[in-house]
Amino acid sequence: MKRTLVTSALPYANGPVHIGHLAGVYVPADIYVRYLRLKGKDVLFVGGSDEHGVPVTIRARKEGCTPQDVVDRYHNIIKKSFEVFGISFDVYSRTTSKIHHQFASDFFKKLYDEGKFIAIESEQYYDEQSGEFLTDRNIRGECPKCHAQDAYGDQCEKCGSTLSPDELINPYNAVTGNPLVKRSTKHWYLPLDQYQPWLEQWILQEHKEWRPNVYGQCKSWLDGGLKPRAVTRDLNWGIPVPVEGAEGKVLYVWFDAPIGYISNTKELCDANPEKWGTWQQWWQDPESRLIHFIGKDNIVFHCIVFPSMLKAHGDYILPDNVPSNEFLNLEGEKISTSKNYAVWLNEYLEELPNRQDELRYVLTANAPETKDNDFTWADFQARCNNELVAVYGNFVNRALQLTKKYYNGIVPACGELTDTDRAALAEFAQVKDRVEALLEDFKFRDAQKEAMNLARIGNKYIADEEPWKVIKTDPERVKTVIYISLQLTANLAIAFEPFLPFSSARLREMICMDTLNWEDLGKTDLLPAGKQLGEPSLLFLKIEDETIQQQVEKLQATVRANEAANAKAEPVKPTIVYDDFQKLDIRVGTVLECERVPKMKKLLKFLIDDGLEKRTIVSGIAQWYEPEQLKGKQVLFIANLAPREFKNGLVSQGMILSAENYDGTISVTTVEHEVKAGSQVS
Ligand code: 2FM
Ligand code: ZN
Repeated sequence: MKRTLVTSALPYANGPVHIGHLAGVYVPADIYVRYLRLKGKDVLFVGGSDEHGVPVTIRARKEGCTPQDVVDRYHNIIKKSFEVFGISFDVYSRTTSKIHHQFASDFFKKLYDEGKFIAIESEQYYDEQSGEFLTDRNIRGECPKCHAQDAYGDQCEKCGSTLSPDELINPYNAVTGNPLVKRSTKHWYLPLDQYQPWLEQWILQEHKEWRPNVYGQCKSWLDGGLKPRAVTRDLNWGIPVPVEGAEGKVLYVWFDAPIGYISNTKELCDANPEKWGTWQQWWQDPESRLIHFIGKDNIVFHCIVFPSMLKAHGDYILPDNVPSNEFLNLEGEKISTSKNYAVWLNEYLEELPNRQDELRYVLTANAPETKDNDFTWADFQARCNNELVAVYGNFVNRALQLTKKYYNGIVPACGELTDTDRAALAEFAQVKDRVEALLEDFKFRDAQKEAMNLARIGNKYIADEEPWKVIKTDPERVKTVIYISLQLTANLAIAFEPFLPFSSARLREMICMDTLNWEDLGKTDLLPAGKQLGEPSLLFLKIEDETIQQQVEKLQATVRANEAANAKAEPVKPTIVYDDFQKLDIRVGTVLECERVPKMKKLLKFLIDDGLEKRTIVSGIAQWYEPEQLKGKQVLFIANLAPREFKNGLVSQGMILSAENYDGTISVTTVEHEVKAGSQVS
């Protein structure tokens, strides 16, 4: 094969991207293309934003802006996140581009003209007041199973049932609330059933090497029997269907998005044909190999629908492999964009600046390649500190610091090799083949483990040889040990480049290594004797407990906020008579002093002006307030509650009233306008 075309799923531009996206699609794709480039292969890496579809329109309505505003905003955020994480796209464009609209429209038109679609009239839900047909997510109604009033047309979030809009009782427009009626509408379908025999042969017989999760999902779709799939929608956001009588209809987002891979390639090639050649070379020459990196929810579209579109068109190559990952969970829970339960890349970069390689490393070490996996902050910290810092960083730092200390940073000459030297060299000579075989097989987790193995070999070697001791008895011998350690260091810079490009670049700078070539991996003369190295510095810094604590708390706060949003108020307590209420003496007091109580973490001690005298009240709200925030405030308190003594002898003369939010947070009650201290509440 002459060239490899790598695509990674185009993320929806209706929100930022999170670690699940990175782990599932973009980091593995990037590792793969960096590796191919290092090998000197002809490779093109295509990305872009998927900017059509219903979710964009829903977000726009919610935010009171246009769909174009939404996609402009998120396209830029997403593009920036990818750049900062070193996802090295050759092109990152968008499906609202002119080139894409034209290309996707022409693609549809060709298939239409050649009679590759079938037209079907069907009854769909219609809002007579707003004059629009509605798609599943825009329809709500009563769940037929649990009778929740706000189930979606495709799913009830309360009981989790999968639904179709027809099953909803009293369906209504999710945005306007208007009731819906059925109205007939015409759409074009790709008759996937006609492609079934060909797909069975192509996937089930000819691509048995695909990952079991991908192959298995394809098999189960095929076993279930394929049906025609609509490729148009009644919507006012998307690419207009280029056919007379199709006004108000657009191409289905899943029809136009994968064509985005082609149109983005075209955009790149047209802009610089000398460098990239023609888009046809990449997409139509059988000497090109096409690889799609995707998440598991995209398998059917990339293995069945898009190949059928390409087959129907006739001029295109088909994917050679579709390495799809499973899902990444977060602290045991599903990552959810709508619930804001995620580690967003843009926020990560602000909160853990310059730690891109750390995240890349952990996401690959724990990649959901064969099953769903869990990301936890504790694991993140452990892997960074115990592997990146303690193994890789530590070895490199020892080798470079010793070179600086003993030889002023100049690579020493290698003397005669001992058996231990030969054993270490023999061990690391195998790493290249192993990493390579694993990468070619899309086993990125294991490949990275092998690269780390190189650092382990180095660490063990230097610890066994103890050059800091031997220098006193046999300085000649130390030259050889350091020489070998430095060659290993240079090898690490190459081996880790696809995985951890930022630290590899820094390491190369430290060892003044100008060339970078995969074929050099395994060589023992990369840094020749006499070469002056640069200034060493730490490759990785420890992740502190505090950082982890903050991230965990942030997630917990999101969970609490979600619970609060779903929670209902407590039922009202049994009725009391007015006299009972009268017994309570509730007053307004002015906070004169407020301080923490030594050794009692939860308590705040108040000195309150109650209008008659000063009294002490102790309250268990220290978690929610800094004492200074409450000084001078007027608060409501019960003035006639029997005094209560705490363990440390402190006596509280009354109780400050506060409200407990659904999420358990506390807010003290105050008055709207200042009143005289001692005013009674009635
Ligand atoms: O699942 C998604 O996020 C889709 N936007 C992926 C599209 S991939 C390709 F077809 F463009
Ligand atoms: Zn339900």
